[in-house]
Amino acid sequence: MTQAFLDDRARLAGRIAVVVGGGGGIGRAVSLGLAGAGVHLAISDIDGAALAATAAEARELGVEVLAIEADATVTTALSGFYDDVLRTFEGIDILVNVVGGVKRGQFMDSTPDEWQADIHRNYGYALESIHRAVPSMILRGGGSVVNFTTIEAHRGAATFAVYAGAKAGLTNFTRALAVELGLKNIRVNTLASDSTPSAGNLKAISAELREEVLAVTPEQHQGGRRMYIPMGRAASVDDIANGVLFLVSDLAASVTGTTLHVDAGTYAASGFMNWPNGLGHLPAPLGNALELLFPEADGQAA
Ligand SMILES: NC(=O)c1ccc[n+]([C@@H]2O[C@H](COP(=O)([O-])OP(=O)(O)OC[C@H]3O[C@@H](n4cnc5c(N)ncnc54)[C@H](O)[C@@H]3O)[C@@H](O)[C@H]2O)c1
Repeated sequence: MTQAFLDDRARLAGRIAVVVGGGGGIGRAVSLGLAGAGVHLAISDIDGAALAATAAEARELGVEVLAIEADATVTTALSGFYDDVLRTFEGIDILVNVVGGVKRGQFMDSTPDEWQADIHRNYGYALESIHRAVPSMILRGGGSVVNFTTIEAHRGAATFAVYAGAKAGLTNFTRALAVELGLKNIRVNTLASDSTPSAGNLKAISAELREEVLAVTPEQHQGGRRMYIPMGRAASVDDIANGVLFLVSDLAASVTGTTLHVDAGTYAASGFMNWPNGLGHLPAPLGNALELLFPEADGQAA
């Protein structure tokens, strides 16, 4: 068996990819993963410094890179980016819409303007992005789109309600579009992550909670991860990028309209926790977990 076995099956080298939000964090890992596989890149990001650094790293890997600073949630900026992409490259084979995110909060404390912004940032801009990319894919005889969804699109995510709804919309839009575009040889999938350490992940929580998160010991962090994540560790940005590489490659030639959960098992667990003190996996706190959680045993805990 040769080292090229997977490359021959994946057929990524020489393709052209657009990565919206490809400068930092998860987006950087996706961009560099694609570049490492020999894919030419058009990257946009709101963070100019991260974008420039990632573009330079990708060029070192020997691929062509177009890097444009643009806010994906501003229609004219996203459209201008696509004008540049189509002027620079002969077409688009791959599109990855990474941009998304939320600031947690109670729905009843939020405003209509905030809902519109969250819906556009997690659903609307992706429609605009896909609408610009797909005509080029059709001309080239096929393509692959990956939209970033989340575990919160698949459960009742309190304090994430608008985000959860928008991502669920994006997820089912993806499924529907996959059916529409099947005969054009264009595959459309979503990738769902959960708790991957990134700047966006930390921005989702309040400054107060962020301080608390950063203050706990590594052992306490690890204890929490073992309880919540079946594999006892969060998926890394590179694990996420590997999921994208699979979805956009010919390894996934017949995979369309589906969601790949890259989360070390949290979606599978769906609420089952690995409780400490030897209790093991249970869907609800029982036994001495209750004593630990509610030491006063007054039954009035919040
Ligand atoms: N990190 C997680 O644990 C997690 C969990 C579930 C879902 N997700 C999803 O994964 C995707 C990436 O999430 P993240 O926040 O962790 O990524 P991230 O913090 O790694 O950010 C990725 C890149 O997007 C860029 N970006 C942000 N807003 C932008 C905008 N308006 N226009 C252009 N670029 C922009 C950032 O500058 C960054 O370079 C999102 O769609 C998010 O909903 C992440």
